[in-house]
Amino acid sequence: ANNDNTTWSGRSVTCTAPINIAVIKYWGKRDEQLILPTNSSLSASLDQDHLKSTTTASISKEFKRDRLWLNGKEESIENPRIQNCLIEIRRRARKRKHNDDSKSEMLNWSVHICSENNFPTAAGLASSAAGYACLVYTLSKLYDINGDVSDIARRGSGSACRSIYGGFVQWTVGEKKNGSDSIAKVVADVDHWPEMRVLVLVVSDQKKHTSSTNGMRNSVNTSDFLRYRAEHVVPSRMEEMIKAIEEKDYQKFAELTIKDSNQMHAVCLDTYPPISYMNDTSRKIINMIHAFNKYQGELKVAYTYDAGPNAVLYLLDEHVPDVVSLINYYFPPCDNIRETFIRGLKVDFKTDISQELKDVVPLEPSPGAIKYVISTKVGQGPQILPNEASLLNENGLPN
Ligand code: DP6
Repeated sequence: ANNDNTTWSGRSVTCTAPINIAVIKYWGKRDEQLILPTNSSLSASLDQDHLKSTTTASISKEFKRDRLWLNGKEESIENPRIQNCLIEIRRRARKRKHNDDSKSEMLNWSVHICSENNFPTAAGLASSAAGYACLVYTLSKLYDINGDVSDIARRGSGSACRSIYGGFVQWTVGEKKNGSDSIAKVVADVDHWPEMRVLVLVVSDQKKHTSSTNGMRNSVNTSDFLRYRAEHVVPSRMEEMIKAIEEKDYQKFAELTIKDSNQMHAVCLDTYPPISYMNDTSRKIINMIHAFNKYQGELKVAYTYDAGPNAVLYLLDEHVPDVVSLINYYFPPCDNIRETFIRGLKVDFKTDISQELKDVVPLEPSPGAIKYVISTKVGQGPQILPNEASLLNENGLPN
């Protein structure tokens, strides 16, 4: 029913956003509705060449209702977390546009949103962080909202607020009841520590794990250790971590990263009933890394784990070849995927390691236990793409 003879009148924006991997973990909410955490956290956003979400959001007066497509499938836009983001975006847009009539009309139009990841959901990588950050960033550009929008992304998924920026990013716990001070802040931008590299070890796993949302809710309700961590550990650890990043002190950074991952998983074990996200392979990787670091006489590589068995390693570029050789020796790929075992940034590694090192690592090789490795680095925040990159066609439907 296009009676004014115009072609498509509307507006469309496409953006990308990174995933992030925390080195000081978020684990626990004090407010479930606004998604306010029990402690501050800190992560690095990862390079979008290898891991990213892309979202197109379009508005048009011809659209009949709000619609959403995720990874090629139409989904209900009634999802409460998506609604929380959408409502807050539109509220902010209205506040800004109240004296500009031509633009305020656009606010009554329906929105079509299409989002996809460039990595398989089955890999168990924190896709909700990149997804919600991308959704909120894209909508903020669509409606010309200026200023920080990390508190809006936070309403989609807590960790998403950190993906609104690149480099090393802190999410401050805040004190206010309305959450206005529980936002993301850049600790160091992407160029600050260019030697920092990241290896994502995608671990083979059949088990369906407790979601972070449910897991941390049970921890808040039953773990005394969670309260101890929030009150007595994270505040000083956060200061030390920020200092280590500012001074590019890898030894300190690596020790704090390892300890904080283990503490989050200790809180999970202190939860009743206990939650365990790691599997045998995860534990073997931990043993391998501690033996390797000890053999080297200092920390060359740090591991961290989220709500699943995958390991993420933070290390300096000069040590990537040795560490990948080690991984390839103890967790060799099955024959058919040798070419795609190491993905992302190219690594020159060896297929054997020294006898001396074999003598100190308490493991036998486990073929196929790691599905593949993504070799990447710290990256930038969300990006705006040109119109050609749109995921929606001129009818507002997926391409
Ligand atoms: C283990 O952000 O996925 O990855 O806020 O309920 O959506 P919700 O949880 P989510 O939790 C992530 C937890 C973590 C640690 C971290 O990223 O800090």
